[in-house]
Amino acid sequence: MSEFQDKVVIVTGAGGGLGKAHALEFAKRGAKVVVNDLGGSGDGVGSGDMADAVVEEITAAGGTAIANKASVTDRAGAQSIIDDAVSAFGTIDILVNNAGILRDKSFKKMDLDDWDIVMNVHLNGTAYVTKAAWPIMYEKNYGRIVFTSSTSGIFGNFGQANYGAAKMGMLGFMNVLAVEGLSKNIRVNTLAPNAETRLIGTIPGVEVNPDNPDPSRHPKLVTPVVIFMCSDDAPTGKTFHAGNGRFSCSATFINEGVELGLDVTYEDLVEKRDQLVDMDNIREMSALIRVMQQQQKK
Ligand code: NAI
Repeated sequence: MSEFQDKVVIVTGAGGGLGKAHALEFAKRGAKVVVNDLGGSGDGVGSGDMADAVVEEITAAGGTAIANKASVTDRAGAQSIIDDAVSAFGTIDILVNNAGILRDKSFKKMDLDDWDIVMNVHLNGTAYVTKAAWPIMYEKNYGRIVFTSSTSGIFGNFGQANYGAAKMGMLGFMNVLAVEGLSKNIRVNTLAPNAETRLIGTIPGVEVNPDNPDPSRHPKLVTPVVIFMCSDDAPTGKTFHAGNGRFSCSATFINEGVELGLDVTYEDLVEKRDQLVDMDNIREMSALIRVMQQQQKK
């Protein structure tokens, strides 16, 4: 039997693209799926019934799913996603935060409404839905949570200051929740995907065919790592990159630094600038690593 049989899974923004691919795969593995999608445009305008079509596809294939059409940016709407899961299926086990929009512009040209809406959908929306799910997972001593980030935040990308900030914010959020969820068997990981979807088509000059994506850039090529992040044996506090059938992991490192004493001046520091930025001698660093090291010492 699949380890996902009868697990209750929520995927936000699952009306198309990556979220749909994840929802279909969980359903195929016997999970009961809440397909959330506001159903608006790629830049976050309007609403629609995209979630219903995915539910129909799942149920036609013999799976179990319900639709929720709330916006993750609305606190009551975010709560309704969790409430609908609990009403229909009794609990929640897995939450994949995936909903997203783009409002790309260079920072010089970006107005603050474009900043706010992107922060709201990606970072605040992820926080609102996760906040509603957290007490249930905490209480039952089990939870698997995925945040969907992007290389645009982790590494940077021209024209995506709003999106990059929101997406990198997720790593900070994960770093904290991975520690806070550790003793409660709640594992929190982050995905940086790459696939041909409607969202990518909103980037000026990029052509996509979301209904029939290039097989080498199909969203379903990302889904295996989402399943991995939601498995019983999942790691926690990790960032995985996936696309084109390739998978990798990135992390934060710190160098050796310079020790300049309590009388340090700006001039002393400048003298050591090469050593300050030298990345030859580095080690991975996170609060989770520190906590795990402390636990090993006990
Ligand atoms: P997509 O546009 O096909 O899917 C995003 C879905 O989120 C849409 O169906 C949309 O209706 C829904 N959505 C938007 N705002 C919402 C809201 N407020 N509440 C509920 N649902 C909402 O695009 P794609 O590419 O599948 O995006 C999924 C996630 O992957 C996003 O978070 C995106 O930023 C991320 N991502 C995608 C990459 C790619 O190469 N496709 C690259 C890096 C990150």
